[in-house]
Amino acid sequence: MITEQEFHRIVVYVKDKFGIDLSGKQILVSGRLENYILRHGYSGYDEYMAKVEKNPKGEEARNLINVLTTNHTYFMREFEHFDFMRQKILPKLKVSEAASRDLRIWSAASSTGEEAYTIAMVLKDFFGIDHHDWDTTVLATDISTKVLMHAQRGRYLKEQIEPLPENWRRKYFKQISPLEYQVKPELKKEVLFRQFNLMNPFPFRKPFHIVFLRNVMIYFDDKTKQELLNKIYDHMAPGGYLFIGTTESVNRSGTRFQYVEPSIYKK
Ligand SMILES: C[S@@+](CC[C@H](N)C(=O)[O-])C[C@H]1O[C@@H](n2cnc3c(N)ncnc32)[C@H](O)[C@@H]1O
Repeated sequence: MITEQEFHRIVVYVKDKFGIDLSGKQILVSGRLENYILRHGYSGYDEYMAKVEKNPKGEEARNLINVLTTNHTYFMREFEHFDFMRQKILPKLKVSEAASRDLRIWSAASSTGEEAYTIAMVLKDFFGIDHHDWDTTVLATDISTKVLMHAQRGRYLKEQIEPLPENWRRKYFKQISPLEYQVKPELKKEVLFRQFNLMNPFPFRKPFHIVFLRNVMIYFDDKTKQELLNKIYDHMAPGGYLFIGTTESVNRSGTRFQYVEPSIYKK
């Protein structure tokens, strides 16, 4: 069993470094960590956390976040956002960005890549043969190196790609075993996966036209959410769109974003 003190040490560390609020989630934390700690020969939580804290960029610190994050996602999740992007946003951007032909789209908590690949398929579908003339590379970031490796590999089970339209499955996925499919290189090259902690200062030089910040703010407290939304606002192009998870909310009085419809905001 994890003691109150051991649990507190982990909660403080994870909140401070990653913004994730684990308070009250004692069972989740011990359920996910206990096994790991025992298997790796530690005498207990304190010895493990001492190692993590000593080297926050080291392997154990990376493993801690890999084990503690919740990475559930799927292709076409909250499809109304992709529909909105295709019907309402892309036609406008095609005109307003015609000179530079450079679109900047960010999947800001990409997990295993389903969201970013779905965005890339929508983009290819929308631009059709004109796609060659545009740079629409999707930036996809997450804090967990484990999910990013999965995303970069681009392998998914047959049932995971089932929500996709048949012609997209055929065009963008190659069957590699009776149960598994892999994203084809022509789609893979449209997404750039990078590790990034949303709590860090943003290194991005050019503003984003569209940001997907879906199903990650649920792990943050209100102040962290507010600060993050402010940073994102500052890194978006005027008229840019922000998508959040459909079950999430934004404190409208505390944000400069303009409300468009549930879970969709505009700068
Ligand atoms: C539930 S997934 C959401 C995936 C996708 N956006 C969706 O809506 O299906 C949440 C992701 O947020 C990531 N995450 C949590 N805290 C983060 C942080 N501080 N910086 C970057 N990513 C973070 C987790 O690693 C996890 O993969």
